[in-house]
Amino acid sequence: MAVTILAIESSCDDTSVAVIRDGYVLSNLIANQDIHKSYGGVVPELASRAHQANIVPVTQEAIIRAGIKREDINAVAFTRGPGLLGSLLVGTSFAKGFAITRNIPLVEVNHLQAHVMAHFILEKGKENRIPSFPFLCLLVSGGHTRIVIMKSYSNMEVIGNTIDDAAGEAFDKCGKVMGFPYPAGPLIDKLAMEGNSHAFSFSKPVVKALDFSFSGLKTSFLYFLRDQLKDDRNFIENHKADLCASLQHAIVTILTTKMIKASLETGITEIGIAGGVSANSGLRNGMTVEAEKRNWNLFIPELRYTTDNAAMIGITGYYKYLRGEFSGHEVTPLARY
Ligand code: KG4
Ligand code: ZN
Repeated sequence: MAVTILAIESSCDDTSVAVIRDGYVLSNLIANQDIHKSYGGVVPELASRAHQANIVPVTQEAIIRAGIKREDINAVAFTRGPGLLGSLLVGTSFAKGFAITRNIPLVEVNHLQAHVMAHFILEKGKENRIPSFPFLCLLVSGGHTRIVIMKSYSNMEVIGNTIDDAAGEAFDKCGKVMGFPYPAGPLIDKLAMEGNSHAFSFSKPVVKALDFSFSGLKTSFLYFLRDQLKDDRNFIENHKADLCASLQHAIVTILTTKMIKASLETGITEIGIAGGVSANSGLRNGMTVEAEKRNWNLFIPELRYTTDNAAMIGITGYYKYLRGEFSGHEVTPLARY
């Protein structure tokens, strides 16, 4: 019998609902919250309120577009954390309510694990390549930068982590300094395409083992701009593309260098990237070049599965459902998971 999962993602500022059947996506809807743009970052209270307004209509639409009936749903998967507590609370409460009324199991999902699991999402009519185990994955999002080894669907080991800011934060904070709206990552990516990545150079971190650091780069970028602006008030405006290309090059170099080291140390050549920053074209190109040089079997997710989405929660929930890993109705969200 087919297994149909309704999946809810509400950890930050996107309300997303998906329907997954036997690992295949039937629908995956995302309601973005534009309200945060003018604040230079996500305002938690506004995010919770927008989730409350969005969650019912987005769920209804996800079920309609999947072409299923409510009675077909076998379980509800939801993001338990990490994320903004108020936002998580909306998704968790809604998932519980749905599971209780339909008398079906509730499956909690770790958002970070789900970003990596996005590599296992199947789509009808497409010939999907999926990684085999052990799978070495760079997880780069707005809040996290990690290298993980996935040994099975249920076993993930973290072998590298950031000691300060995440890669996405480096993009967003440096973008903010240049006056860009939040999140700055996609705009920097776009502008970088027109710029020279060797126009400027910023200090590179020295961090042990497979860990990362981005706060030094952010400070170096800030001081560089401050000095240049003393001589030329229009420096940012006049060098926007080169600044973006050079900054992106610095971040991508830090990330790819550690992935090369991780692959050499573990001997794993089944390699992927995941999370919002894996949408970055510089990172995608950089990893593709390394993969050709080093004979990696590289996995780059479809753009729609890089940033936050419920399909990744659904695929993680699907495998947990098969293992019988359910949560009780007393489950509460976790800001840190
Ligand atoms: O995974 P995600 O959607 O949310 C979190 O779980 O954090 O990641 C969001 C992050 C933001 O920092 C955003 O600027 C970054 O991903 N991002 C990008 C790009 N698209 C999204 N960074 C660089 N280039 C992009 N194209
Ligand atoms: Zn995320």
